[in-house]
Amino acid sequence: MAVSQQYPNMNHKRKRQPDKPAQNPLQAKRIKLLETRKHLPIWPKQSAIHTALAHHDVLILSGETGSGKSTQIPQFLLDQPYCKPRKGCAGKIAVTQPRRVAAISLARRVAEEMGSPLGSASPGSRVGYSVRFDENTSPGTRIKYLTEGMLLQEILRDGALGEYGCVVVDEVHERSVNVDLLLGFLRGLVRGKRKGGLKVVVMSATAEVEALAKFFDESAGETEAMIGGEGEVPQVTDESGRDDDEVSWNGFEDPDEASQGTGAINGTHNAVASSPTQSARIYVEGRQYPVTTKYLDTPADELEEAALQRIFALHTKEPLPGDILVFLPGQDRIHSLQTLVEEFAQSLPPDIPKLQVLPLFAALPQNQQQRIFQPAPPRTRKVILSTNIAETSVTVPGVRFVVDTGLVKIKQFRTRLGLESLLVKPISRSSADQRQGRAGREAPGQCHRLYTKSAYDALESHSAPEILRCDLASALLTLKARGIADPLNFSFLTPPPLSALQKALLHLLHLSALSTTGSLTPTGRQLSRLPLTPALARVVLEAAKPSLNCLHPIIDIVAALSVENLWLNPDTEEGRERAAEARQALMSREGDHLTLLAAVRGYVAEASDRRRWAEAHMISHRAMQSVMDVRKQLLAQCQRADLFRHQDTVAAETTSSTTMELSQTEPILRSLLAGFAAHTARLCPDGSYKTFVGNQTVGIHPGSVLQGRKVEGIVFSEFVYTTRAWARNVSVVRLGWVGEVLG
Ligand code: CDP
Repeated sequence: MAVSQQYPNMNHKRKRQPDKPAQNPLQAKRIKLLETRKHLPIWPKQSAIHTALAHHDVLILSGETGSGKSTQIPQFLLDQPYCKPRKGCAGKIAVTQPRRVAAISLARRVAEEMGSPLGSASPGSRVGYSVRFDENTSPGTRIKYLTEGMLLQEILRDGALGEYGCVVVDEVHERSVNVDLLLGFLRGLVRGKRKGGLKVVVMSATAEVEALAKFFDESAGETEAMIGGEGEVPQVTDESGRDDDEVSWNGFEDPDEASQGTGAINGTHNAVASSPTQSARIYVEGRQYPVTTKYLDTPADELEEAALQRIFALHTKEPLPGDILVFLPGQDRIHSLQTLVEEFAQSLPPDIPKLQVLPLFAALPQNQQQRIFQPAPPRTRKVILSTNIAETSVTVPGVRFVVDTGLVKIKQFRTRLGLESLLVKPISRSSADQRQGRAGREAPGQCHRLYTKSAYDALESHSAPEILRCDLASALLTLKARGIADPLNFSFLTPPPLSALQKALLHLLHLSALSTTGSLTPTGRQLSRLPLTPALARVVLEAAKPSLNCLHPIIDIVAALSVENLWLNPDTEEGRERAAEARQALMSREGDHLTLLAAVRGYVAEASDRRRWAEAHMISHRAMQSVMDVRKQLLAQCQRADLFRHQDTVAAETTSSTTMELSQTEPILRSLLAGFAAHTARLCPDGSYKTFVGNQTVGIHPGSVLQGRKVEGIVFSEFVYTTRAWARNVSVVRLGWVGEVLG
C-alpha cells in the first residue's frame, strides 16, 4: 500500500494533541533519526553554514566522507530565505550526485529523516529524486536529489535553473566530466542571470578547496557572457508568464542582508572576502575510528585468488558483526569473484556463519543496488564486491573490513588514435586512503591492501579529472546544446588541451551534429537528447531513417554493448572450446554486432527459462538482465523522441539475425558506420588491418567472432589497448560503404 494511502492526512498541518504521543510511524522514525543526526560532525556547523550563505552566494564545503554533508546540508538550508518560493523561483534545492544509486538512496534516507514519504508516493512529499528514466518527485518536492546528467538535462529546458533557490553539487572530488560542466554553468549563473538569487554549495571530500575557490572567485570570464548569449537558452517564466528579466532574483527577505559582507564567521570558516560574489569555505572533520592497514609482502600473482583467500580468512577468523567491502576494477571482475566466493562458501562447515555476496556497480539494476543497504540476515556476513562507487559516493552500512585490489577501471582517451578505451589502472593514493577509511566509519576496522607498501608509496597522489581523460565530444555537444556558443572558451575548472577540444569538435562535425560554421544542427540537437555517446546516438538516429528501418535491432545491439561482457569467459582451453561450441548457433558471419543481436533476440524469445538458456549459450545471465534493463529504457526513450514513426515493427521484431539476408543486415551495418566511421579499418596486403583515419594498425580482438578472418573492411565500436591496439566488437563492412561515409 502506498504510504500516502496509509496516512492520508500526514502532509496537512494538524494540531497535535499535546497529551498523545506521535502515532505516525514516519514521524516516529523521524524523531528516532534526529538523535542520530545530532551526532553527525556537521550538526554543530549549522549556524556557520547559514551565516556563510547569508553573506556569500557560493559555499565550498569540504569534509570527510560520512560527516553528514549529503544528507544534512539540504535540510539545514530548507528554511532559509533563498529556499522560499517566490516570484520567478520555486526555491527548491537540487543536490547532484555522480551516480543513480547515491541519488536514490540519499533521497530515501533524507525522506525518512524528515518524516516525509518519498517522491510520487504522496503529492505532499517533500523529498524526491530524478535519475535517468526515473523521475520520482511530487508537486510538493522541496529537496530533489538528482544525477549530474539530469541537472544538465534541466539546464537544456531552463538555462537559468529558475526552479531552484540553491544547488548543492556533491562529490566534486570525483571530477566527473558532468560535474566540471555543471560548475562552469553555475559559475556563470551566480555571476550573471541569477546573481544574488541562487546559492551554490560545492561539496568535496578532499582538499580541492583552493582550486575551487579560485575558480569561483577569480575575475569574471566569458562564461556569463556566453550563457544566454546565443539566444538558445529558454527564458524562465513564473506563473504569471513574466520572464526572468522582470523578476527580482534576489532571494533575501531583508534587502540589506544581501549586500552585507563579512569576514570570518564564528571562527569556523575563513571567508576569503566580503563580497557575496566571492565564495565562503567551511571544513567539517569526519568521524573516523582507527583502521589497521595490512599490505602484501610480495605482489599478488592473481588478484581474484588473493581477494578470495583474504575474504575467507577474515570470514572464518573475525567475529560478527562486520561486513567486508571489496574494491575491484569493473563488472567482469566482480562477477567472476562473486562466482568464486559463492562456490567456495558452499563448502564452509555448518558452525561458520553464512556469506551473502552482493555486487555493486553503476550499471547494476536499481533494485539490486538497493540490497546493499539492507542489514545481513542473522548469522550472516555481507560481502560487497564493488567498483570505486563505494569509495565515497555510497556509504555501505555495517562495513568493518575493506579488501582493496588497488585497481580501478577508467575511461582513457587516446588523442593520437582518436579513440576512447577502458583501461584497468592502479588507483591514486587519495583513492586508496578513501577506500581504507570505509573500514572505520562505525567502529575500529581493518584494511587489507592486496599490494605492497612500496607499491602504495609509488602511486600517484591524485587521479586526473575525467575531462582530461575522456572523449570530449559528449561534453562539447552538451555545451553547444545549452547555448554555449564558443565551448573552447568555456570556464573549465581544468581546461582540457585545445587540441583535444578541436578534435572533439571535428568529430561532432563528422557526425553532422555541428554545421561547418560550428552551430548545432537539428541532428546535433536530437543527439544531445539521447542518453548515449554521440557516436551511439548517431547510430540510433541513422537506424530510425525510413531508408534503413532497423531501429529495433539497433536498440538491441546498443543495449548489448552497454555491458562490459555478455559472454562468459572460461579460463581453461577446454572451457573455451565448450563456450565456442555453445555459441555456435548465435554466431553471425557479419561479425560481433549481429552475433550480439542474435543473443539478445534468442534470450527475448526464450519463454520458459531464460537463466538456463543463457547458461546453455555461455552467456552471463546477470549481464543479460542489465541489457534488458537498458533495452527497455532505450525503447521508451526512442518512443518519446518519436523515432519509431517510420519503423516496420513487425518485420523487425520477428527475424532471427543468424538467418538474416544481406538486405536486412546491410542497413544495420550502415547504421553502425554512421556513428563509427572513424572506427573503420581496411585489410592490407600483409594481412594486418589499418584504420582509414590515422592509418594505425589494429588487431581484431581475440574475443571477436571475426578473429582470424580476413575481410576487406571492418567497423568497430570499441577500442582496447593492452599490449597492442585491439578493435573489439567488430563487424564486416564493404569498402564502398566506408567510402560513401568518409567521402
Ligand atoms: O556526505 P557525507 O559523506 O559527508 O555523509 P552522508 O552521506 O550525509 O552520511 C551521513 C550518515 O548518514 C552516514 O554515516 C550514515 O550513517 C547515514 N546514511 C544512511 O544511513 N543512508 C544513506 N543512504 C546515507 C547516509
